[in-house]
Amino acid sequence: MLSEEQRQRRAASTGGEPILDFDGERSPYVAYSDIDVLLSLQNTPSGTHDELLFMISGQLMELMFKLMTHELAEARRRIAADLIPDALATFHRITRVQELLVKGWDVVSTLTPAQFLGFRDHLGEASGFQSAGYRHLELILGNKQPSMLGPHRGSPRSHAALSAALHAPSLYDEALLLLDRRGHRIATDHLERDLTRPYEPHPSVEQAWTGVYADQSPGNDLFLLGEALVDLADLYRQWRYRHLISVERVMGYKPGTGGTSGVQWLHRIAEHRFFPELWSIRTQL
Ligand code: HEM
Repeated sequence: MLSEEQRQRRAASTGGEPILDFDGERSPYVAYSDIDVLLSLQNTPSGTHDELLFMISGQLMELMFKLMTHELAEARRRIAADLIPDALATFHRITRVQELLVKGWDVVSTLTPAQFLGFRDHLGEASGFQSAGYRHLELILGNKQPSMLGPHRGSPRSHAALSAALHAPSLYDEALLLLDRRGHRIATDHLERDLTRPYEPHPSVEQAWTGVYADQSPGNDLFLLGEALVDLADLYRQWRYRHLISVERVMGYKPGTGGTSGVQWLHRIAEHRFFPELWSIRTQL
C-alpha cells in the first residue's frame, strides 16, 4: 500500500504521466480484477458474428444480478437493524443497478430473428431459467418456490447458497418485522409461517401498510421504505416485461430452449407480484 506522500512523489517522478512499465508482469489493473480471465470467457460456439452480443448481454446481466443480490442482502441487514435512512441509501443504489438491467434489453433487441436463429441450436437446452444468480435474486426478494432449486442440484455451491436463501427471511419479511416492531401489528401466524413456501398476501399486512400510508409525507420513514420497495418491484416488473417483449421480437411464439412454451410461459411468470400488499392497498388509498 502506498501512502499519499509516496503517491505524490511517484507522480512527480513520472512527470505526471502514467506508468508504462511493470517489469513484464500483468499490469496491476488486469491483476486486480482478473480482467484477462473475464475477457477469456466469451467462447461463442457458433462462430457467428451476432452471438457475442447475446453472450455478453447474458454475462453482464449475471454480474448485475450478483451485485443486486449483494446490495439487497445489505438493505435487508439494515432494515433488521432499524437503520432506515441507511437502507434507503442502499435502495437508491439498487435502483441504478436495475435501470442498467432494464436498459440491457435495448442491446439484446437489436438481434434480428435470423441472427438469433444463426446460433440458437448451439444453446441446446441452455436457458436463463437455469440462472442460479437470478434464482437467488428472486429468493431474497421473497419469491419462494422450493422446486426452482431443482436445476442446481448438480452445482453443490450454488445449491447450498440457494437453499440458504430459501430458508432465510426475505427482504420483505424483514420489512414486515420492522412494521410490527413499530406498532403496525402483523398477525403472528403470518410472521411465523413456513418461509420456504410461496408468499400469500395477508389482511394484517394490508392493514399495516394502509396505516403507514395514512401519512404520505417525506417525514414518514416507513412510507419512504414502502415506496422504495414499490420502486424496486416496479423496475423488476419492467425487466421481466422487457425480457418478454425482446423474446417475442427475436423468436416470436416458438418454444424456449429451457423446455417452456416460450412467450406464453413468460407472460404467466410476469403476473407474479413482489410485495403484493403494497400493490393491493393502492386501490383503496
Ligand atoms: C434473444 C434473447 C433471449 C431469448 C430469446 C430468451 C428466451 C427465454 C425463454 C423462452 C425463457 C423461458 C424459459 C425457456 O423455456 O427457455 C427465458 C427465461 C429466462 N431468461 Fe431469457 N431469453 C433471452 C435473453 C436472456 C438474457 C440476456 C438473460 C439474462 C441473463 C435472460 C434471462 C432469463 C431468465 C432469468 C429466465 C427465467 C425467468 C424466470 O424464471 O422468471 N434471458 N428466456
